[in-house]
Amino acid sequence: MSQSIYPVSAEWRDRAYVNAAQYADMYARSISDPDSFWRDQAQRIDWMTPFTAVKQTSFDAGDFGIKWFADGGLNIAANCLDRHLAERGDVPAILWAGDDPSESRTITYRELYEEVCRFANLLKGQGVRKGDRVTIYMPMIPEAAMAMLACARIGAIHSVVFGGFSPDSLAGRITDCDSTIVITADEGLRGGKKIPLKANVDEALQQCTCVGRVIVVKRTGGAVDMTQGRDHWYHELRDAASADCPAEAVGAEDPLFILYTSGSTGKPKGVLHTTGGYLVWAAMTHHYVFDYRPGDIYWCAADIGWVTGHSYIVYGPLANGATTVMFEGVPNYPDFSRFWQVVDQFKVSTFYAAPTALRALMREGDAWVEKTSRASLRILGSVGEPINPEAWEWYHRVVGDGRCPIMDTWWQTETGGHMITPLPGAIDQKPGSATKPFFGVLPQIVDADGKVLEGACEGNLVIADSWPGQMRTVWGDHERFFQTYFTTYPGKYFTGDGCRRDEDGYYWITGRVDDVINVSGHRMGTAEIESALVAHAKVAEAAVVGMPHDIKGQGIYAYVTLNANEEGDEALRKELVQWVRHEIGPIATPDVIQFAPALPKTRSGKIMRRILRKIAEDAVDQLGDTSTLADPSVVDNLVANRQKVVA
Ligand code: WTA
Repeated sequence: MSQSIYPVSAEWRDRAYVNAAQYADMYARSISDPDSFWRDQAQRIDWMTPFTAVKQTSFDAGDFGIKWFADGGLNIAANCLDRHLAERGDVPAILWAGDDPSESRTITYRELYEEVCRFANLLKGQGVRKGDRVTIYMPMIPEAAMAMLACARIGAIHSVVFGGFSPDSLAGRITDCDSTIVITADEGLRGGKKIPLKANVDEALQQCTCVGRVIVVKRTGGAVDMTQGRDHWYHELRDAASADCPAEAVGAEDPLFILYTSGSTGKPKGVLHTTGGYLVWAAMTHHYVFDYRPGDIYWCAADIGWVTGHSYIVYGPLANGATTVMFEGVPNYPDFSRFWQVVDQFKVSTFYAAPTALRALMREGDAWVEKTSRASLRILGSVGEPINPEAWEWYHRVVGDGRCPIMDTWWQTETGGHMITPLPGAIDQKPGSATKPFFGVLPQIVDADGKVLEGACEGNLVIADSWPGQMRTVWGDHERFFQTYFTTYPGKYFTGDGCRRDEDGYYWITGRVDDVINVSGHRMGTAEIESALVAHAKVAEAAVVGMPHDIKGQGIYAYVTLNANEEGDEALRKELVQWVRHEIGPIATPDVIQFAPALPKTRSGKIMRRILRKIAEDAVDQLGDTSTLADPSVVDNLVANRQKVVA
């Protein structure tokens, strides 16, 4: 564990919105008097109907419920667009860098406003109304953000599905929320490769009866099939749509979006975020954590298919009138300098990315970074998974030339925005630690019995009280929401993460303690990969665990038991890898498949994953007690045949 500390510099202490003393004061007030604290903070957004109630929340079974600013009314698109027009109409809202370095676009606030109005009218013309679900399956092009904002403008609920998901995964997400319309593109483009988005939609829709309309944005011009009556070209409808569309006033607790995410059991859950509290949270965290100032060029290198893209490419920055960079490509195309070339091209001041990308670039050597200037950079950010101290130091020293503080932001799809994070002028950084709670966040560490631990300790991370950006329900299954998050430790929100707190009160996330794995910052349920594997005709049973991986953080280790008379050879291994990619998407590609004649089970038939994890970690001397297994000899076979990844 790294012991180094990077103190807040005098320059940052003086220039930031919040210094250490102010952080302490504001934090204390946010906890002791949340109503008055959040009443003030909510003034950062425009309300069409002022709220009177602030915090109405309970995590207890008896009166469970989460509402913030409930009687207020607002519109998110108006907050992200209309209110900036007078002062910032000609300022870029989106700077877009294409996959091919020769392609870029600048879209001002006025242009974005007009495009969103047209898009909103276009959706209305297709019958979309307030409360309807709209699935967005798009590449990283400005039209993706426009589609989200167009939904928000008319009060429709968007469900963005990452463009790397398979037709099957897409179909499941469309059906679960009963979308009537899908917005997609002909093809996506990443690292010079084409992704057949429209063809994937066509395949998905063979399984979905709810969708009557598909809107197709032309990105590459590649050939696609258009189903008459169902499919429409975006540009044709857009040209016919009016650029005048009043923003619909929606209630603070009306849904804004659904985003599917993996849990430890069952199919992915539709995490539902509502309007008022979410926007306050996204805007406020973006403002303080990145110390956002007018004129900054802000770049979050996530995909809008993930929550990071929702809160920190679209809603947070645009609510603050920022210039947000959207990047279509990948870090290693055309070469390993691409990120830093884009930084120089747009004079990016704030750069926010996932550790997995940094580790992959670090491995290629410093020269790719050093040949660029990066003089515009002021703040760096990290998100999505624990950042190991080596990668942190490299990011700081090489990318930031030792001059930029690093905001290691811990949060989740469920939390809507940052929860534990440094603030550049207030909190000294320790490489590998997400440091301290943001305003209004009450983290606790509990032991397995739910006892709250004090001082320096290690255990499971819970949040003891509600914050405005919190998810409100699982779409269509409120009971599952309560069961998943509030029953493990009654009265508290359980994060699913393990955590250590040091003697300075710093939080160190140690990773998931449930059956969720984090591969390259993408969150996946082991159960989903297992059910994909057992769907293959030759597979009898499968158990998937995470394993340490130098670049991805965690890799996917799958133990597979075949049906009788099937032989586990190299060809079948390759076939199964392809199968999972096809069933879920390339992000779920297993790194290792080990054929196992049997899995270690207790006498009651429960798979002992602890043992499988240890074997995958190659820690075979730490298997612990195996005597409770129905057949302990199973383990010997697994150990003898364990596989190693070649990274
Ligand atoms: C992990 C992504 C350590 C954590 C925003 C969490 C992190 C899960 C960090 C949520 C961080 C995210 N340090 N771990 N800075 N940020 N995580 O829902 O395990 O895709 O529970 O949200 O990512 O992943 P999700």
